[in-house]
Amino acid sequence: MQSVEVNGLIFDKYLSAEKIAEIVDKVAQRINSDYAGKEPLFICVLNGAFMYASDLFKCITLSSAITFVRLKSYEGTATTGEVKILTPLTVDIKGRDVIVIEDIIDTGLTMHGFIQQLKEMGANSVELTSFLFKPEALKYTDATPKYAGLEIPTKFVLGYGLDFDEKGRNLPALYVLRSSES
Ligand code: IMP
Repeated sequence: MQSVEVNGLIFDKYLSAEKIAEIVDKVAQRINSDYAGKEPLFICVLNGAFMYASDLFKCITLSSAITFVRLKSYEGTATTGEVKILTPLTVDIKGRDVIVIEDIIDTGLTMHGFIQQLKEMGANSVELTSFLFKPEALKYTDATPKYAGLEIPTKFVLGYGLDFDEKGRNLPALYVLRSSES
């Protein structure tokens, strides 16, 4: 599909499933190399990162575990400026090398709050991987992902786990909101 309609808005294809797989594999190889000899704990931020986390984790060759949290700071296409922790972390992360898996870093607000909490819980190290990164939208620099799949302009995207009001997560490719000029 070259374009999709969700809630009356048109989104055009931005990345194919094949291109996504290439990007994910590259990130995984960097993590495999940087964490050689270590046993990092991956924390997948639900819901958006579930597809990226699944694909990434399959490419991780390290001895490592994965756990899941739900945080929410978004409604519709504009940030609400609020971080809600919907399901808290149940694993003891004291002394662990943590890698947080996100779908997209926009303002960085969600990760700014979460990374701080992980450090307070006694993690040995905390790094961030995000499938997508919107550098021009970033407001919290501590949320800059060390392992970013792809930098994109400040536009709304959906598919590959990312939603628009809970729709579009199932699309295997990534789509970008068509602007009024195009
Ligand atoms: P931040 O806290 O502003 O960095 O927002 C991060 C969260 O907002 C992500 O985990 C997504 O759930 C959501 N988000 C940001 N940009 C987009 C987008 O373009 N499409 C879908 N969700 C987005």
